[in-house]
Amino acid sequence: MSRANGMLEVSNLTVSFERPEQPDAGAFRVVEDLSFGVAAGEFVSILGPSGCGKTTLLRVIVRLAPAEHGTIKIDDSEKYAPGRDVCLVFQSYGLFPWRTVRENVEFGLKMQGVAARERRATGQEFIDLVGLSGFEQHYPHQISGGMQQRVGLARALACRPKLLLMDEPFAAVDAQTRERLQTELLRIVAQTASTVVFVTHSIQEAVYLGTRVLVMGARPGRIAADLPVPLGSERWRRDVRLERRFEDHVLEARQALRAVSP
Ligand SMILES: Nc1ncnc2c1ncn2[C@@H]1O[C@H](COP(=O)(O)OP(=O)(O)OP(=O)(O)O)[C@@H](O)[C@H]1O
Ligand SMILES: [Mg+2]
Repeated sequence: MSRANGMLEVSNLTVSFERPEQPDAGAFRVVEDLSFGVAAGEFVSILGPSGCGKTTLLRVIVRLAPAEHGTIKIDDSEKYAPGRDVCLVFQSYGLFPWRTVRENVEFGLKMQGVAARERRATGQEFIDLVGLSGFEQHYPHQISGGMQQRVGLARALACRPKLLLMDEPFAAVDAQTRERLQTELLRIVAQTASTVVFVTHSIQEAVYLGTRVLVMGARPGRIAADLPVPLGSERWRRDVRLERRFEDHVLEARQALRAVSP
């Protein structure tokens, strides 16, 4: 398997969970000997059957769960800082319901000890970028699901991480909002020159967003296919979803996914 040199290097990663209900069965190995690399500026989509370990993989990268074996490096270092070098955007938004949009977006900066004035300026920049100007004082329950997702995105981007991880961020929004958010995400990623790893169940979404699609197999979870998607870097300026070669890449990804699905 080819491995891009660069910003993220996952090497021979193995992750297991204890099974308290079956102590004699041994640990449950979710991910085994998984390796892949992501170069700076790449947008890597990950597809894989439910339960194959996609969320686990992202959680291990941000050190929310431990690896049993293997190494993870960001910019050649295993000593990267979750929350600063790498941020995770969850499917369930992960917003604080008792904090306003502004306070949610500024949260990561506050944790890093950024001074109030700078926090406010940076926070506003990313609130504007995701199109939420005018909603700074709203609480999460006062805005729609799509808007809450943008708050989660703005919060992660405001920390200017080297690497942005997204776990099915658009799964909970309606189809039309989802298409808009996808295009907006491409624009924002281009403007901020972000490097992204994006987990999704939608083959179309994976191909539309990704410069590369990784297909992950189950039991044990590892990378089964690595498909380049050469649709051009300014995909958000024109709708590649209307182009025939987009459908060709969707078909290729669908076949690869079928090959690893039970
Ligand atoms: N903290 C945990 N303790 C025990 N088992 C876990 C834990 N987290 C995940 N698992 C198990 O690991 C496997 C992979 O889970 P994971 O959430 O990573 O899958 P996924 O690929 O993200 O699935 P989906 O597409 O449904 O979100 C599942 O069998 C799950 O039950
Ligand atoms: Mg998951």
